[in-house]
Amino acid sequence: MQFATILYTLSMFLLCALAAPLNARQETVSNVQCTSKTPLDFHTSNVALLQICGGIAGTIQKCQGRPTSTVGQSGNVRFTINPVIPGDQINISKGRWEQGIKAAFAVCGQNIPFTATFTGGAVKGDVNVVYESV
Ligand SMILES: *[C@@H]1O[C@H](CO)[C@@H](O)[C@H](O)[C@H]1NC(C)=O
Repeated sequence: MQFATILYTLSMFLLCALAAPLNARQETVSNVQCTSKTPLDFHTSNVALLQICGGIAGTIQKCQGRPTSTVGQSGNVRFTINPVIPGDQINISKGRWEQGIKAAFAVCGQNIPFTATFTGGAVKGDVNVVYESV
């Protein structure tokens, strides 16, 4: 093999190694605060999380209509999303929404109420999320 070929092969390998984490990018959460020690009902929470933005169940893959605030509620379980930048519009995909909730549960415990900031859930910036019993 020529030196140039080896160099090319090596750089392609490096490029792929660097690009892979971008493809598998996870929603990141920050400012996670666990606000109760009592977990909420698993099934009710799964229903509630699909009620944001007027409903994202089934084939709907993202928040529809870019609201400036939204609530997803079922029974006594409520999720609230508010953009960090006032007046910003919520534009979050179902995948990122579910990843963010999983990431917060990874910090607080499964179905433990929390408040957190989800990165890039709005047109201009991040969103603040509240998961609580009402
Ligand atoms: C909303 O999010 C999608 C990705 O889910 C993106 O392609 C689109 O550009 C975003 N729209 C605005 C107005 O930011």
